[in-house]
Amino acid sequence: MKHFLASALFCFCSINVPATAIEGLVPLPVSVEKTSATPVVLTDANDGKIRVIDTESARRAAAYFLNAAREKKLKIGGEKIIFASLENPEIIRGNAEGYVLEIGDGKIKLSANTYAGYFYAIQTLFQIFPREADGNGEISLPPCKIVDYPRFAWRGFMLDSVRHFQSVEWIKKLIDVLASQKINTLHWHLTDDQGWRIEIKKYPKLTQQAAWREHIGFGLEPNQSEHYDKAGRYGGFYSQDEIREIVRYAASRNITVVPEIELPGHAVAALSVYPEFGCTGGPYEIRLIGGVSDDVYCAGNEAVYTFWENIFDEVTQLFPGKFVHVGGDECPKIRWENCPKCQAKIRAENLKNEHELQSYVIRRMEKVLSQRGKRLIGWDEILEGGLAPEATVMSWRGAKGGVEAAKMQHDVVMSPNSHCYYDYSQAHSGEPRSFGGFIPLERAYEFNPTEGVPAKFHKHILGGQANLWTEYIPNEKHAEYMLAPRISALAEATWTPQELRSWEDFQNRMVHQYARFGEADVNYRRPEAVQILVENGQLRFRPDLRNAKVVFTLDGNEPTAESQSAAPDVCVPVPAGDVAVCVRARTVFPDGSLGRINERFLNLPKAKVISTLNTEAGNVPSRAFDGSREAVYWANGGARVGDTVAVVFEQTQTPKHVSCITGKNETGGGGDRLHSGVLEISPDGKTWLPVAEFSHGFADAELPAGTQVKALRLRVTQAQAEWLLVREFEIRN
Ligand code: ACM
Ligand code: ZN
Repeated sequence: MKHFLASALFCFCSINVPATAIEGLVPLPVSVEKTSATPVVLTDANDGKIRVIDTESARRAAAYFLNAAREKKLKIGGEKIIFASLENPEIIRGNAEGYVLEIGDGKIKLSANTYAGYFYAIQTLFQIFPREADGNGEISLPPCKIVDYPRFAWRGFMLDSVRHFQSVEWIKKLIDVLASQKINTLHWHLTDDQGWRIEIKKYPKLTQQAAWREHIGFGLEPNQSEHYDKAGRYGGFYSQDEIREIVRYAASRNITVVPEIELPGHAVAALSVYPEFGCTGGPYEIRLIGGVSDDVYCAGNEAVYTFWENIFDEVTQLFPGKFVHVGGDECPKIRWENCPKCQAKIRAENLKNEHELQSYVIRRMEKVLSQRGKRLIGWDEILEGGLAPEATVMSWRGAKGGVEAAKMQHDVVMSPNSHCYYDYSQAHSGEPRSFGGFIPLERAYEFNPTEGVPAKFHKHILGGQANLWTEYIPNEKHAEYMLAPRISALAEATWTPQELRSWEDFQNRMVHQYARFGEADVNYRRPEAVQILVENGQLRFRPDLRNAKVVFTLDGNEPTAESQSAAPDVCVPVPAGDVAVCVRARTVFPDGSLGRINERFLNLPKAKVISTLNTEAGNVPSRAFDGSREAVYWANGGARVGDTVAVVFEQTQTPKHVSCITGKNETGGGGDRLHSGVLEISPDGKTWLPVAEFSHGFADAELPAGTQVKALRLRVTQAQAEWLLVREFEIRN
């Protein structure tokens, strides 16, 4: 297991593909037409042929272009590059972010009427640039005409800088990655139970003390992050100067930064230095774990409202965008139920209960923000107790809250945890520890922000957003791994017309995007999985990287570049016989590097799987011993002490190694794993010998040579309410 973890997270060699072209654009533009114009040939010449019409937006965009092209070391000499105004805005449906890009007959012409339009024309042009010059040191761009504009105005990404802190330098890198994918909103989660990250001049204790905690927390190793101060405290904050710098950097990349200042829940960091703003008066300690705290701001104390108003005075000055996010999610009501001040407020304001008190808080904050020229946005819990009149809802507990709000004529941003939570795992195996959940690239790609919303309310769907909560993402490289490549799926879900979207086509284009992530030094998750299929007695390999070569072995040895190889559609006969065969396979990436090893057992000895637990739908017990970790046995309804799942062999076996993997994700955190149990073997199917304890849902043991194994089982040693999912029992000789 350990070697999977290491290679998944820290091997990030780039994937080189041959000179890219218009076949590799992500997100897919509205219209790409190859034309019969002559290709444009660019050289190193510095002959000043850039023509820019005399508008502020064209001049700014041309300056950005020259700078970025220099940084990317692109050749842009020899032919004309023209920044023109758009003659016919109808062609981009009048969309403020639309553009036309024409390449051919001696010129590259970028047409737009806004800075945003030019900026996206440039991003598309950068994707078209071949990465390597020909033998003469020249590069050639294909003749084409691209007409393009986004489907949605809100194409968002949320970064949680509280659970773990990220450097200013890295946030700029993130902004560049987002901009390259035409994402235009960075939702920045700045306050929570584990820290306060934004400098507020009126309340210096928030950053002098509440920005720091004793330990990295979350069960992580201290060396998984570098963000410690000289005194060894963990955390950090962004000064107002740094925030202005980030906001400016983002604006020049057409990204609006939306700050999130959480209230009335997720407030323990603030309460740790201002305990008088909680219902009980504290003391409160900054949390070192995730989850939801019962301790929240006191909504019956007028001094709390003054505190919030003073904070928003400063926050609204720092962020020029029209939205401010106030959180609003996961606010338990238990403290309010027992607080005389909160109860007095409920009576004085004629509220029915604590849910209406939460609604009262949000309505008041909406007025506070509106007085400061801003609009309020909050998580879908702000629907509880009645929605504030102008509020925009960010739907995270699925799309339901968003659909409800849109039907009430409120604006909505969809970020359902079914598709948009990029802290969830990207595969069932080989992944680093995560918050849990499972959102592979394909699921992320299936996101459609208007799904389930009646057509007449589509106009209220501002767009979509992916969220990166960082409980288990302690450093910047890990954040890159979780967001790339899924950010490309989000980009396409929010930019490209739905009728043009295709998972097959997206995968083909992503081969080019992987190369671009590599060049930008982004630690993206490589598509390393290889499905090992058995069809009609034949073996077939299906790599996640489209059309990649696969190398494999049939003797359990490690496949190397010299091993047998198979193209994606080539079949290999399954070796005959009744000796178990371990097939191991891995992807050969275009740059020659090898992906991690995937394996599957064939010709397993005949056996029955017998369980004392129930079965969820078709996930029958035999799937726990079928050679594949992908097909699983799923027992519903929890487990009692003494429950067992046993593999009973027809013939006694003498394996050298036995193991069992449980849980939705192989490497823990994914739920439905065995929390407390032992792996046992039996020489006769009657008497049992424990050989290993389960840890993180996994148990394995080496057996002395010649050990007779008639049966193998897991036994539950502590009752669990959680369901149990058994991926696979494995035996090796
Ligand atoms: C959330 O994930 N609690 C908005
Ligand atoms: Zn209270």
